Amino acid sequence: MSFRVSGEPAMLVAGGSGGVGRAIVAALLEREIRVIVPLREDASEARLRDYLRELPLERLTLLRGEIADVADGQRIATSLRDAYGQLDGVAAALGGWWAGEPLVELRRETWGKLVADNLTAHLAVVQAFFPLLREAAGRYAAIGGGAAYAPVPASGPISILAAAQLMMTRVLYEEEQPRSGGVDIRELVVNGAIATDPDSSHGQPFAAREIGEIVADLLLTGATRRSTLRIDGPILNLLPG
Ligand SMILES: NC(=O)c1ccc[n+]([C@@H]2O[C@H](COP(=O)([O-])OP(=O)(O)OC[C@H]3O[C@@H](n4cnc5c(N)ncnc54)[C@H](OP(=O)(O)O)[C@@H]3O)[C@@H](O)[C@H]2O)c1
Repeated sequence: MSFRVSGEPAMLVAGGSGGVGRAIVAALLEREIRVIVPLREDASEARLRDYLRELPLERLTLLRGEIADVADGQRIATSLRDAYGQLDGVAAALGGWWAGEPLVELRRETWGKLVADNLTAHLAVVQAFFPLLREAAGRYAAIGGGAAYAPVPASGPISILAAAQLMMTRVLYEEEQPRSGGVDIRELVVNGAIATDPDSSHGQPFAAREIGEIVADLLLTGATRRSTLRIDGPILNLLPG
């Protein structure tokens, strides 16, 4: 690969092609951080490039791969170690909203896909990149949703998996804390809809750009100046207002 640059912080955004993830990518690039985004398909790359079109992209590295696949995740982690020597931060903005049948009628195929995208993909990112993050005493920031606290009819899997993701973060936090040089872990739980389309953001309590800024702060400093936060260990609950 041709992107070796030593001495600069390097951060990976999993889900960097999504509505929230691409805003995290933009916020990091604006702070002159080297950003790596693994992508599953050409269409995701095209969407991301279009969103970032007004930013300088010399610090952006797009890699093709399936982070949810064990072997591919390892391959990407190894290529990053070879290229940068270390990884300083990982953001995970994986999975997304879903609405459909109530739980009693939920098709098992739908359940399986939602578990894969909204929960297993998070575990895959942790397993692939925590060994590298530990080498740099790096930071990890996952994005979660307020559906973790509110049972949403006909979106049951989203509530269930968001709650499970919260517990994954809390277990990881307990597992990493005692380690010397363990990964600094946060989950930003956004309690409300995020406007992810920069051209139509009316009526949503949050804008993707502000979430991107908060996550960039968390990855760079471990904290954010936002006042509408309720903090519970590694969980930062972002409230509207
Ligand atoms: N949007 C909101 O209103 C909102 C509100 C509160 C919290 N959140 C949270 O923010 C996070 C991201 O949401 P979003 O709105 O940005 O969703 P999104 O636009 O659907 O983006 C999801 C991202 O995850 C990636 N992804 C999904 N499954 C994957 C898998 N199995 N392996 C690898 N990548 C996978 C997608 O990649 P591809 O491009 O390859 O599909 C895409 O980059 C979620 O945790 C959600 O709960 C969102």
